[in-house]
Amino acid sequence: MGDLFSIPVLFFLLFLLVGTAAGEGVLLSTLPRTLIVTASPKQGQVLKAGEDHITVSWGLNKTLSASTDDAYKNVKVMLCYAPVSQTDRGWRKTNDDLKKDKTCQFEVTVQPYAKSNSSFEYKIKRDVPSATYFLRAYLLDSSDTKVAYGQTTDAHKSTNLFEIVGISGRSASLDVAAGCFSAFSVVSLLFFFVIEKRKAKKSLN
Ligand SMILES: *[C@@H]1O[C@H](CO)[C@@H](O)[C@H](O)[C@H]1NC(C)=O
Ligand SMILES: *[C@@H]1O[C@H](CO)[C@@H](O)[C@H](O)[C@H]1NC(C)=O
Repeated sequence: MGDLFSIPVLFFLLFLLVGTAAGEGVLLSTLPRTLIVTASPKQGQVLKAGEDHITVSWGLNKTLSASTDDAYKNVKVMLCYAPVSQTDRGWRKTNDDLKKDKTCQFEVTVQPYAKSNSSFEYKIKRDVPSATYFLRAYLLDSSDTKVAYGQTTDAHKSTNLFEIVGISGRSASLDVAAGCFSAFSVVSLLFFFVIEKRKAKKSLN
């Protein structure tokens, strides 16, 4: 009786253990916001994917003790969707559990953390889709665990947001332009064809 009972229980416990190990990460709400992050785009500015650059700068909030960043090994800067570009899009959904979070999908840079202010110039990648964005930096310790963060927007993600227009958005309008252009050429071809025909008729008469 004891054995019959304990084996399923053991499996159940094992399942729980594996489940928590694989499924849960650091919660953003538990991370201190120690880094001040600023970026070159102005509120509402529109940038083009594959063309424009963003300069992002970061440094420790100086009101904190100088030893705050002792455990910081690397800084990882990400491009993140603003709430307005997340509504009705499950694939961009915010989750406090950073392993499941889909807010920040585009890596800007990963580099060793320096105790002085740092900056990086990022050329917006061609695969970044049209949306409203902000930037966030995670501080990683020596085991690659997120231990702190900073971002260009406020806690509600409502200030200092900028827009990126993706390549596909632009090529769609290019296609429309190309379509108009070819329609125009067909019409003008027809026009000249008719004129030529009339001329030919006149010269025959
Ligand atoms: C810096 O940290 C202090 C104390 O935690 C906080 O009150 C202040 O808002 C922070 N400054 C910025 C720009 O985040
Ligand atoms: C680092 O950046 C902060 C915030 O932008 C600024 O207040 C501070 O003066 C900078 N420090 C240095 C050494 O540039």
